Amino acid sequence: MPERIVHRGALLHFLDEPMLDTNAIEYFEDGALLVAEGHIEKVGNATDVLAKLSSSVPVLDHKNALIAPGFVDCHVHYPQYHVMAAFGTQLLDWLTTHTFPEEEKFKDIAYASDVAERFLKQLLSNGTTTALVFGTVHPQSVDAFFEAANQRNLRMICGKVMMDRNAPPGLLDTADESVTDSEALIQRWHGRDRLGYAVTPRFAPTSSPAQLKGAAQLLQKHPGVMLHTHLAENRSECDWVGELYPQNRSYLDVYDQFGLLGPNSIFAHSIYLDDKDRQRLAQTHSSIAHCPTSNLFIGSGLFDMKAAASAGIKIGLATDVGGGDSYSLLRTINESYKIQQLQEYTLDPFQSFYMATLGGARAISVDSHIGNFTVGKEADFNILDLHATELIAARIAKCQSLKEKLFVLQMLGDERAIRQTWIMGSPVT
Ligand code: GUN
Ligand code: ZN
Repeated sequence: MPERIVHRGALLHFLDEPMLDTNAIEYFEDGALLVAEGHIEKVGNATDVLAKLSSSVPVLDHKNALIAPGFVDCHVHYPQYHVMAAFGTQLLDWLTTHTFPEEEKFKDIAYASDVAERFLKQLLSNGTTTALVFGTVHPQSVDAFFEAANQRNLRMICGKVMMDRNAPPGLLDTADESVTDSEALIQRWHGRDRLGYAVTPRFAPTSSPAQLKGAAQLLQKHPGVMLHTHLAENRSECDWVGELYPQNRSYLDVYDQFGLLGPNSIFAHSIYLDDKDRQRLAQTHSSIAHCPTSNLFIGSGLFDMKAAASAGIKIGLATDVGGGDSYSLLRTINESYKIQQLQEYTLDPFQSFYMATLGGARAISVDSHIGNFTVGKEADFNILDLHATELIAARIAKCQSLKEKLFVLQMLGDERAIRQTWIMGSPVT
């Protein structure tokens, strides 16, 4: 790639939450993004950006498209690549029938590497440039993932599952082993190139109190690492947590008691919460990963976005593959819209695209690097195709406003709408 290059076309990104401040929506009908050595050098109207630029800098013209930051998937399981679209079960049954047998295979690093390659290919063809990713209990599953991500120069976060009870013997560690193995992985990978580590207890039912305590100690020792787990996804799961931790006020309170809440903590699903839980998440600056495709596919329930957003909780979007049945953040936004419709809350497309980009980056604490086109950030972005299909092109042609166009794109779009993805200023091939 040349050192400097201009991408010209309609361009959209967010400087902040659009629902709090409409000035946070930055849109240029004829915009330009100047990328230099993999980072954003300038963004603005094409005439302004080009006027002060040497004519030797190449300009790529993206017609019938929208230039937007890369998508962020805030919760996904790479080892569940082969578990997607498994018929007929709800969460606890789905884990024992489909998921745990597949995850046992990740003991073999060659198998793990093969799946990591396939998984990253899916992410990139869907325009997802950053994700917060579950490994399996095997440390080598995380090595395989990070190797594959690093080869592609991706900004990715991953962690070894900590799980010392209520799972098949081949998938169990011990509290001590889980801390030692996680520690070694943090030393090996955290902060190396664009990679980051997440301490990853699977969920309260599969961790003993000693293991959750160990997870908190890791967080204290390594302030930059994330805490990534599941919370209140399914009614039977919540009942089970009530039996395992009878002294706690709520499911969230279990994690809270062990000191696992905080600005680098993210809780996938978070459907069955009460107002007190929401208050605690907001107070501690913890985040929620909202997983609409998964919540519908495994029949878990309807996330109350309005309640979470008005409590002031950071919310990111997530596919939760293999619980989710699509790698596409556009499909994820589509289902999220419908889930809110069922609760008489209309989700604004600006808010959805914010959550899929800067909002997601904030939810997983990578917004100082990615999420929008602030000068100096890493140039991970998508060329979204407004003519991806005949139907999309026809509907877009009738749109009167940017908001309408975004809505058509989110409701009718999928990986076909990702014309091209750029990582650190270079095209994905
Ligand atoms: N809860 C605990 N483990 C899992 C998992 O792998 N997927 C989902 N969706 N929920 C979980
Ligand atoms: Zn999950």
